[in-house]
Order: sequence, then C-alpha cells, then structure tokens
Amino acid sequence: MIVLGIETSCDETAAAIVTDTREIRSNVVLSQLEEHAVYGGVVPEIAARSHLEHIDKVIQAALDDAGVGFDDLDGVAATCGPGLIGGVMIGMMSAKAIASVQNIPFIGVNHLEGHILTARLAEDIAFPYLVLLVSGGHTQILVAESLGKYKRWGTTLDDAAGECFDKSAKLMGLPYPGGPNVEKIAKECKDPQSAIERFPLPSPMKGRKNCDFSFSGLKTAVRLHCEALPEGDLKRSDIADLSHAFQTKMAEILADRSEHAIKRFLDAYGTKTENPTLVVCGGVAANKLIGQKLANLCSQYDMRVSTPPLPLSGDNGAMIAWAGVEHLKAGTSHPMDLKARPRWPLDPDAEPRHGTGVKA
Ligand code: KG4
Ligand code: ZN
Repeated sequence: MIVLGIETSCDETAAAIVTDTREIRSNVVLSQLEEHAVYGGVVPEIAARSHLEHIDKVIQAALDDAGVGFDDLDGVAATCGPGLIGGVMIGMMSAKAIASVQNIPFIGVNHLEGHILTARLAEDIAFPYLVLLVSGGHTQILVAESLGKYKRWGTTLDDAAGECFDKSAKLMGLPYPGGPNVEKIAKECKDPQSAIERFPLPSPMKGRKNCDFSFSGLKTAVRLHCEALPEGDLKRSDIADLSHAFQTKMAEILADRSEHAIKRFLDAYGTKTENPTLVVCGGVAANKLIGQKLANLCSQYDMRVSTPPLPLSGDNGAMIAWAGVEHLKAGTSHPMDLKARPRWPLDPDAEPRHGTGVKA
C-alpha cells in the first residue's frame, strides 16, 4: 500500500510517501521560517498564501523522490485539523483533488493523531501506550488505547510547552522558532549549576495529582529575569545561562507531570501490555535535555521510552501519510465533504478545562 501524506497546518508545507511496510519512501518539508521570522512568529495569512504557492511542487517532489507517480497511489491523506485553517484547507483540498481524479480513498487526518501514531512508524509499538504530546500548539498526556481511541488524561491550562519555548526565546531576543534556538544557545552555558541558582524559575502544577500543565507562570518568570538584567541588549552569556535554567525547568516540569501519568498508566494498563511504553512526540520531543530527563524517569519504572527520530519530530508529511496507512488498513476513508477543523479534540469525552487560552 502506497500513501501520499500532506501536512499544511502551520508553517511547513510538507508531503511524503509512506508504505504499509513502514517504509518512508520520501519526506519533503519546505519550511516557511524565513517568511515569518521578521514577525517573530507565524502569521496565518502569510502561511496560507505560501502553502498555496508551494504545495504543488512539494507534492511533485515527494512523488519524484519516492520514484512513484499518481497512478501508483493507494490513498491520499491530509491534515484536516487542528491548525491554522487557511493552511489546513489548502492541504486538504489538494488531497481531495488528487483522490477524486485518481479515484482513490481520501483520509482526513487529525494532526495530533499523526504525531501520536508516528511512534508506530518509527518503531514496532503496540497499543495501548502512554503519550506525552509536546508541540507548539498543544501539550497533552493521553493514552493511545487503539487506532482512533485516545483518552486525554491531561492538557495545558494556558500555553503549550513549545509556545512557552517560543515566547521565552522572544523575551530573550532569540529568533523564532524558540525551541531549537534556546537549546542551541544553552550549550554555551559555562556553569550549569550556578545558572540554575542564578535564575530561579517556578514549577507550575508540581506534585498535583493530575496530568495537567501550566506554563504561563514560567514564561512570566523569564520576562521578570530579563527585565532585572542590565538595560539594552542582553549579554550572550546571560542568555545562555537563562536558556539553560529554562530548559532544565521545562524538563523537570514535563518529568513531574509524566511521572504522575506513568504511575496511573501502570496501574490501569500494566497488565494489558507486555512492554509499557511512553511515547514522546511533537516538536519539543526534539530537545535532547528533555529526552534525557524523560528517559531517566522511564528507566526508574521499567518503561520503554520512544522519541521519534529528528525528521519525524517536527511537522512532516510522513506522519500524516502513516496515519492514512493505519486508517486505510482499518477500512476507514472519508467523504469529499469532510470539513477542515481549526479545533479538533482527539478525545471528545475529555472534561473541558476552564481558563483563558485553553488548548483542546
Ligand atoms: O509539532 P511542531 O513541529 O508543530 C506543531 O504542531 O506545533 O512543534 C513546533 C514546536 C515549536 O514551538 C518549537 O519551538 C518546538 O516545537 N521545538 C523545540 C525544539 N525543536 C522544536 N522545542 C524545544 N527544543 C527543541 N529542540
Ligand atoms: Zn505538530
């Protein structure tokens, strides 16, 4: 089975060819980074126009790299939400057009599900598994029970982890996207322990008996530290120290919330899986320090940890193509009038969280 996957929900125009034997035949990602950099974040209208301009050639490149043509496809999948609606529509409509011309199934994929299922593309992982989803728009703990069945155990009450990286980076004068730039400059920190002591940061939700997150207080603390430093451009060494302290705290928060989830998972699902696994996915999963902290935590509980290889951690077409493969194998495809959804919770039964800016 050969499936084309299209991803356009944020600032990457991406397409990939993936097979049901877990082979990634191509994975083309065109980043719009430069177009948004001057604004310090993604501008939805610019993103949508750029997707429109580039989508055809990105799809063609994915086919060419894989050495296949439209006639070889068994299905076409596209992100249909959640995300920036202008971009989502462009990827979705392109997929529908290809599917109707080729007379093959169209699969509308939830972007978050794409991240969650990537673990099964990269490694041989069986349901059920525990998921820490940490991206630019979402931070959630879920249990992937089976294909299409996800129980959301916790979510952020305000910012997402990636968003907190991006906003904190901006406060420190680092370019967008914040995550990779914070990680890069933190490597220049000369004395990690004293950096942590020099820049104390809060641990929101620490020890709470649930799986929820909150990051806005962390971001505010970064702002206060920046304001307390001498006026003018921050010194590079100060930014390196603060970035290290920030990243360390972020790892600690994610580990604290994950530890609670791991205990709950082992209680509820320990006997239902031979190899209990924590899947860490979404763009923030690329962070080495966070990955290490979570790996240490998992080893204490005899849990396997699975983080996607770098090209599959940020947004990409392969994760969408693979979600398409999984659904097609299960006999699911979608009608041509499927709607794009800016918000699309994976677990419709999850209790709503109250607060400003709550993410689904
Ligand atoms: O999953 P993703 O590519 O897009 C969304 O679906 O949101 O995640 C993007 C987020 C951004 O906030 C970016 O700053 C963060 O992932 N990110 C990182 C790293 N690489 C990307 N955060 C921390 N460390 C990284 N190395
Ligand atoms: Zn994503």
